[in-house]
Amino acid sequence: MAIAETSPHRAGLHEAYRSRTPRSAALFERATRVLPGGSTRTTVFAPPYPPYLATGTGIHVSDVDGNIYRDFLGNYTSLILGHAHPAVVAAVEAQVRRGSAFGAPSEVEIALAEALVERVDSIERIRFTNSGTEATMFAIRAARAFTGRPLVAMFERAYHGTHDTAMAGTPGVPSAVGDLVAVLPWEDLAGVERAIAGRESELAAIVVEPVQGAGGVRAASPGMLSGLRALCDRVGALLIFDEVISFRVAPGGAQAEAGVRPDLTTLGKIIGGGYPLAAFGGRAAVMDRFDARVPGAMTHGGTFNGNPVGAAAGLATLEELTAGRYPELAGRAERLADAVATAAAGAGTTVRVDTVASLFQVRLGDHTAASAVATGTGAADLFVGLLLEGFYLAPRGMGAIATSATDADVDELGEAIVRVATRIAEAGTAS
Ligand SMILES: Cc1ncc(COP(=O)(O)O)c(C=O)c1O
Repeated sequence: MAIAETSPHRAGLHEAYRSRTPRSAALFERATRVLPGGSTRTTVFAPPYPPYLATGTGIHVSDVDGNIYRDFLGNYTSLILGHAHPAVVAAVEAQVRRGSAFGAPSEVEIALAEALVERVDSIERIRFTNSGTEATMFAIRAARAFTGRPLVAMFERAYHGTHDTAMAGTPGVPSAVGDLVAVLPWEDLAGVERAIAGRESELAAIVVEPVQGAGGVRAASPGMLSGLRALCDRVGALLIFDEVISFRVAPGGAQAEAGVRPDLTTLGKIIGGGYPLAAFGGRAAVMDRFDARVPGAMTHGGTFNGNPVGAAAGLATLEELTAGRYPELAGRAERLADAVATAAAGAGTTVRVDTVASLFQVRLGDHTAASAVATGTGAADLFVGLLLEGFYLAPRGMGAIATSATDADVDELGEAIVRVATRIAEAGTAS
């Protein structure tokens, strides 16, 4: 199926991209015969087709056509050390030689659990899953079991993965699930109270990303988070922080920065060191509902839960992430925002980069922080335009700084963003 090329500028971008990526085009065509839309992951499709990446080292990735990109997406923020970091590769190789998985627990999963409990103050007990989706699904289930209540509240523009409660209101999820989900307004505690008014005694949990990722990289204010803490305490609900993305902002996660202690936390992305591993954890009283020694314990099976390869990779990653690394990463993100601001002022283009620690979001056009979800209508052109400049970001304009990025990488990305944004604005496709 052809994707509409709605403007001459877009058609030109796509033509230039197609001429550089014939092998990716052929793979995409082949993929569409067996994978719907050629893909098995909604977030990695971008028109006209995505490049097929074949190798990655540090900040560089190459596609099957031999084009090299500097990767500022890092598999959607999960590769905080860049690709194929030697310490991670060594840990994974050693573990794979010992065995990839057993129908038994492993010492390395204890070591990773200890490292995370040590870093995140509010986590007393933790369990591993294969994905952030499972992590939020189980955290919510634990909250419902612990409180004996059905209602879960989550925010507009939140993304907590793809299980039913997280995707209420979308095709295939029964409307009865939606009846058990309240949607909350961002940075509006009075609105939050209104959204649950009359149902306080049904509320099992409020789930919140301390830094929204898919929602456009926006940090919740400490005041909102402490207000949610107080509200949960008042109505007897649990507070769940989804730190699948935001754990990368500080050694103890965004909760340490905000000084607010949730009952449960979900983690993912960087804690698997590039492998499929995530986790949920928190208060012992809640988590101990999964204690299999106790009659009536909650079931949390999973063939690959706590997989030793992912646990080894995650542990190696955390060992590299000493406290000093975090300000270094955040500093590079700020440097990117500054580079874009300077070049945009020079070019007279309204593009900017907003940052939260090492996370960033490109915003095209004349957006206010409150209204901007992502990048405006030129987003699709931004992605392809940046590919042609040799940079890889999320199609929605999100990125993250890895330890492998240098000041020069960041400066050159900033210049490229403004060049691409200027062309989009001149072509009249920016909102
Ligand atoms: C905040 C948040 N929660 C949950 C998830 C789901 O994680 P996964 O993609 O590993 O299922 C994501 C994924 O991007 C996320 O950003």
